[in-house]
Amino acid sequence: MRIIQITDTHIYSDDNKFGLKHLSNLKYIVDFIESNDEQINADLIMVTGDISHDGGEASYERFFKIMCDVSLPFYVIPGNHDNKQVLHYVSDKYYCGLNVNSFSDKDWRILSVDSVVDNEDYGFIKNKELVDFEKEVLASRSKKIAVFLHHHPIQVGTPIVDDCMLKNASEFLDICQRLNVSFIGSGHAHTLFQRKIGDTLVSVSPAACSQWKNGTKEVCFIENSAFSVVNLGEHVHVAPWFI
Ligand SMILES: [Fe+2]
Repeated sequence: MRIIQITDTHIYSDDNKFGLKHLSNLKYIVDFIESNDEQINADLIMVTGDISHDGGEASYERFFKIMCDVSLPFYVIPGNHDNKQVLHYVSDKYYCGLNVNSFSDKDWRILSVDSVVDNEDYGFIKNKELVDFEKEVLASRSKKIAVFLHHHPIQVGTPIVDDCMLKNASEFLDICQRLNVSFIGSGHAHTLFQRKIGDTLVSVSPAACSQWKNGTKEVCFIENSAFSVVNLGEHVHVAPWFI
């Protein structure tokens, strides 16, 4: 199975300078994916949060109007910048799947967990969410598991985002280790980073809007846009596409 991961599009509701740039980045990514569909050869698109920058209805309308042009099924999970209620309201209007947990093939099951705490930048997975995740993994023991969430569960070496990473990362990673989860994919860090922990590949995708400067403590970013292609086979590998 191959999954295109798009993360941190940060679409604005109005036409400010950043808003226009982020909107054009998303359009470019969608056009690129559509015109290179045979080469990328993906089964689905997973959007891992911070879809909107301001949580406004207009920003989600803009996002879903662009995403309607993709021929692949796509799923979204919220990030810290998103307004879950507004996201759900607009995604319903566009018949977008919010629950990737139904997606599987003969070898792989795809899951997601919600790591968003209302009005906070840091992430935390509630106990009920962890219990449900564990149940879903245990219900698919014959398959390999890939799970997506917004907040990165490992430090990427950039303080401005490591200060607001997943707070209960060790609890989540312990569960993933114990249950032999093969892949964890996140966004949030606006940087490219990977680490293998035991048999689990933890992959942080670069952002669609722009990247944080590596190692920065202050607001300082690099103007480029990217998505990732996650190849789930006998071996798991991730290809970042900077475009
Ligand atoms: Fe973000």
